[in-house]
Amino acid sequence: MKKNILRSKIKQIFIKHQLSKKHSEICADYLIKAELVEARSHGLLRLKMYCDRIKKKLINPKPKIRIKRISSSISHINADNSIGFVSADIAINQAIKNAKKTGIGLVAVNKSGHYGLSSFYAEQAVNKNLMVFCFTNAPPALAPHGAKKSLFGTNPICFGVPTGKIPFILDTSTSIINRGKIRRAYKLGEKIPYGVALNKSGKITTNAKEALLGTQLPIASFKGSGLAWMVDILSGVLTGSSHGGKTKDPFDDFTGPQNVGHLFITINPKIFVGRNFMREIKRNIKLVKKLPKAKGFSSILYPGERKYKTYKKNLNKDISIPLKILKEMDYLNAI
Ligand SMILES: NC(=O)c1ccc[n+]([C@@H]2O[C@H](COP(=O)([O-])OP(=O)(O)OC[C@H]3O[C@@H](n4cnc5c(N)ncnc54)[C@H](O)[C@@H]3O)[C@@H](O)[C@H]2O)c1
Repeated sequence: MKKNILRSKIKQIFIKHQLSKKHSEICADYLIKAELVEARSHGLLRLKMYCDRIKKKLINPKPKIRIKRISSSISHINADNSIGFVSADIAINQAIKNAKKTGIGLVAVNKSGHYGLSSFYAEQAVNKNLMVFCFTNAPPALAPHGAKKSLFGTNPICFGVPTGKIPFILDTSTSIINRGKIRRAYKLGEKIPYGVALNKSGKITTNAKEALLGTQLPIASFKGSGLAWMVDILSGVLTGSSHGGKTKDPFDDFTGPQNVGHLFITINPKIFVGRNFMREIKRNIKLVKKLPKAKGFSSILYPGERKYKTYKKNLNKDISIPLKILKEMDYLNAI
């Protein structure tokens, strides 16, 4: 489907679900961006889920988002159960403003929802020549190291920095793969990779449904579990959101709003070394890239490089949408 047609269809769907025109456009743009970078786990797959939660009054389509100023650098946002895209968009723009004024911005968000890919927000800060960290917590998917039961989310860690060329954006789940990839495999009847999840009896499974009912495995064993815990503290405990396994699963827990938390930290990278920063970051990347290549590698990529190229490659192409998701869109548009 052509990008502009898809954009107006998604916008129309959100408007029919009572979102304002402006908020509908923000959501449509983020969902399309996920398709363009081929992160389909975070694109149209989730459209029905967001609409279902709005219909059940678990996402507030007309939120009164309040920004509390704590200092020139620090802001605390109550998202009033807004759709995550909107509150995170407001928060990253506030964090950018704060860092432009003082050199550092720290913005915490509570009462929010699933916000898609952290890189959406990191890119905005990097495009304004800032260094950035983004954190969000997510519903239970990982068992803490030593536990039998899932409690941590796939809690992503995202770090971005301007390079003068393609932004460096490391945006990784603390699970081996993100949960959306498993959701999508389940929806489309596909298998998941071997070694990323266990079934309810603790055995490795490639069956998506069994994986959703079991637990996902963290990156690097207890280290990944520790990082997922850190993200739960930063985006849950610190912001005043749900934490400790209380974040609700947007797909199958309709007992209340998700109450997800996000934390954004923006830093002017020139604060310590001035203009030398850009010279040194370029040098740093050059030093890594010119290393002799391991067998099977023709180049060394930095985080974000491949996604950026994928985005550019797809920018003017039609977006292919599985039939099952097209039917969902027709259904949502007919409401
Ligand atoms: N909102 C939420 O609740 C939530 C939860 C979990 C994950 N997510 C999102 O899911 C995405 C992460 O999913 P994932 O962990 O399956 O991602 P992934 O494994 O595809 O990528 C992780 C990181 O590795 C980098 N990378 C990939 N291949 C590389 C290569 N060959 N060389 C160098 N770097 C490379 C990527 O640029 C990326 O920064 C993120 O965008 C994250 O924000 C969102």
